Amino acid sequence: MAFLTDVTTREPAFHIGNIPVCGVTMLAPMDGYSDSPFRQITRSLGSAVSFTEFINAMEVVSKNSKYGKRCSYQEMERPVCIQLFDNDADRLLAAAKRIETLFHPDWIDINMGCSVSQVANRGAGVGLLKNPMLVGQVIDSLVRNLSVPVTAKIRLGWDTESVNYLEVGRILEESGAAAVALHARTGDQLFHGSADWDAIAQLKQALNIPVIGNGDIQTVADIRQMLDHTRCDGVMIGRAAIANPWIFAGYDIPDVPASLFKSTVFMHLKLMKDYHDPVRGCVVFRKYAKKYLTHLGVDKTAIRNLLTTVDPDQFTAKFHQLVDDYSVEPGELK
Ligand SMILES: Cc1cc2nc3c(=O)[nH]c(=O)nc-3n(C[C@H](O)[C@H](O)[C@H](O)COP(=O)(O)O)c2cc1C
Repeated sequence: MAFLTDVTTREPAFHIGNIPVCGVTMLAPMDGYSDSPFRQITRSLGSAVSFTEFINAMEVVSKNSKYGKRCSYQEMERPVCIQLFDNDADRLLAAAKRIETLFHPDWIDINMGCSVSQVANRGAGVGLLKNPMLVGQVIDSLVRNLSVPVTAKIRLGWDTESVNYLEVGRILEESGAAAVALHARTGDQLFHGSADWDAIAQLKQALNIPVIGNGDIQTVADIRQMLDHTRCDGVMIGRAAIANPWIFAGYDIPDVPASLFKSTVFMHLKLMKDYHDPVRGCVVFRKYAKKYLTHLGVDKTAIRNLLTTVDPDQFTAKFHQLVDDYSVEPGELK
């Protein structure tokens, strides 16, 4: 419990520019997952910051209004960071200015870590790391022209032959970035191998701006271990949080109190239906429902039956029934 108060302290753990960050753990930006409902859930459980899913600057400047929903958030999610990706400094600036005016985020982050080929091969995402000069130009122009802080999320480098996170980190700092998050793998590693926490420690040593460590946090103990090992300012949690949003409250799955488990999963479904419409909300919720029900030990046939239920009222009733039927004693969640 001491740990819980530690991560949810009201005192700022660090600042991004002038924005206080009250807590050391935060949900990672994740396309398809870190939408407003999930951010509300994780923020209320203790995630200190709300990062949007990445947003294509090309869509923003083309005024394709579809991106707007990905930028939307509730006030309780603040501090909110909207993440953009592109390979063009002018377009990133135009998009960031538009985002700043329309959505008022607390800061803007530039994705320099996405290794999906459609993004990276055009020089965006981790592709930017191949061009450190462009990294500097992008950040410099954003810092000079926006009124909110600018951060970047990077990897170790484009590939194992071109590891350059220290060089890029220094360029980011010199160009005025307010913080840097490091997913401690190279682009060509995708999600393979282990994240190199030594690299996070080295980056923290090298820079004065806050460094946020990312990669391979799976348990509450891992959070403390990353903090101790790297001395980083914040810990960003991605995949583990999808299955266990309660990690932000200091719980590994077996430790989650049954009442908190229930109230969280019911609230998550409600927020999904409110954010989308009831039909779409239930469809998007399926991927979470599967994980939540697996924790309860619900059998595969019952899960399959739920996931093929299209009517939102029936889906909701079945989900509630399963969660209630499979209520477990403390310590029995898996
Ligand atoms: C499904 C999925 C979507 C992701 N989308 C984004 C994204 O939009 N922006 C970003 O910076 N990183 C994205 N990432 C990378 C994560 O933010 C994070 O760096 C990575 O998952 C490593 O952290 P972890 O080991 O805690 O999962 C994504 C990762 C996953 C698994």
